[in-house]
Amino acid sequence: MNWGDLVVKWVHVISIVTGVGLTLFQYLVLLPVLRRVQGVPEDLVKAIQRRAGMVIGIAWVLIWVTGIYNLVVVVPTVKPNYHLVLGAKILLVLVLFFISTALSHPSLAFEGIQRNRARWVALAAWLGIVIIALSATLNMMRLKGVALKELPAAQVQQLPSGSP
Ligand code: HEM
Repeated sequence: MNWGDLVVKWVHVISIVTGVGLTLFQYLVLLPVLRRVQGVPEDLVKAIQRRAGMVIGIAWVLIWVTGIYNLVVVVPTVKPNYHLVLGAKILLVLVLFFISTALSHPSLAFEGIQRNRARWVALAAWLGIVIIALSATLNMMRLKGVALKELPAAQVQQLPSGSP
């Protein structure tokens, strides 16, 4: 086992748990509660959103660095079927990255998105879920060998005799 690859995978997954988790917290807890409860100070809401945006921003830096590392390690070993699913994942990651940045960046260009925060947070949460499902599919495609250019020796030994 390559320990470097494993540590990078840990950081990738932990950063994703943090980023997608905070988005789900806003979608499922914070925004519904704020819709129901009157008189919550606006400063408090802004401070929570600013803090969440900052932590999500740090998570994104780690997600990009470790995601690209994963990509470089995995891509030489896989077949076009894997590239298809990976392409779909990266496309959705780019959309999620844009929404996530627009929700927390103070630029006036993102004012429209921030005014409709509930809608965009919901979209970001669902995108996060779909991307995680695609990522688990990618992992399974390698694990089961369907996406590998060459099967690991242990799996070759299990093939019935006469298989190509
Ligand atoms: C920034 C661009 C990203 C790239 C280039 C990238 C690339 C990768 C690659 C190549 C793997 C290995 C998959 C395998 O084992 O075959 C992986 C694992 C994973 N990625 Fe990403 N990723 C990125 C961002 C994200 C994001 C935003 C999420 C979630 C919202 C995510 C969720 C995951 C998960 C959960 C795994 C582990 C899958 C498993 O082992 O079961 N990734 N990533």
